[in-house]
Amino acid sequence: MGIVVAIVNQKGGVGKTTTAINLSACLAELGKRVLLVDCDPQANATSGIGFQRSTARPHLYDALSGLVDVRQAIHATQFPNLFLLPSDMELAGAEVELVQEEGREQAFRNLLAPVKPDFDILILDAPPSLGILTVNCLAAADYLLIPIQCEYYALEGLGNLLSTIRRIRMAFNPALTILGILRTMYDARTNLAHQVSAELQKHFPQWLLRTVIPRTVRLAEAPSHGLPIIHYDGRSIAAEAYRQLAQEVLERLGM
Ligand SMILES: Nc1ncnc2c1ncn2[C@@H]1O[C@H](COP(=O)(O)OP(=O)(O)OP(=O)(O)O)[C@@H](O)[C@H]1O
Ligand SMILES: [Mg+2]
Repeated sequence: MGIVVAIVNQKGGVGKTTTAINLSACLAELGKRVLLVDCDPQANATSGIGFQRSTARPHLYDALSGLVDVRQAIHATQFPNLFLLPSDMELAGAEVELVQEEGREQAFRNLLAPVKPDFDILILDAPPSLGILTVNCLAAADYLLIPIQCEYYALEGLGNLLSTIRRIRMAFNPALTILGILRTMYDARTNLAHQVSAELQKHFPQWLLRTVIPRTVRLAEAPSHGLPIIHYDGRSIAAEAYRQLAQEVLERLGM
């Protein structure tokens, strides 16, 4: 049965999508069968893994709205073991429609249930909000990975996220577990990076991952080529960092 890991942080631009794409690619490289689920109407994970916008290709919203079976919305990527359930800006419509529906928080969970046995790991890329799409990610997930950018205000909003997680645990998903906090866009030359690290170490030692993702332009370039970093610049420090992250995640999952 596939394990569902959601990449969440309601703060925008902290490296959720970059982590979703690259962790997925590195897990696939290690031989795991991976489904990357793009849960954001911005569809950055979809384009970042090399899928152009297309009206012909079924996406998450088509499956959610019952237009197609979920399996028809799952597509092989050009990389072995790595599959994509793409998004599209139409998913923004779900934000409005779901709010009116019975069981609205469990739509992703119900949708993914039949395909979980087909994969080892499902990685959910959440949007930047605590809205219904993110709540759906939290309700569908077994584990959460929280990327944090080590800058000023980095920890702001973490309290909100943690209380939302507690609420989801009580209401729908008692087994929801925090897999780890990942430092992204890390610039070891700045004091701020060390200060934020020290804060995280002090307050969340059990969650803080030892892998750190450096700030590097190669990671910002790769999505415009539709490639995960290991296929764009496989020998870069960023590729090495995401490979390490995949190893650490598998360790934590006991896989
Ligand atoms: N380690 C890094 N070094 C340099 N640039 C990075 C790094 N990680 C991400 N970026 C760039 O920073 C921007 C934001 O990253 P990303 O899209 O992964 O964040 P996000 O949390 O998914 O954003 P959103 O909240 O909008 O979904 C992107 O342009 C991305 O290419
Ligand atoms: Mg994103």
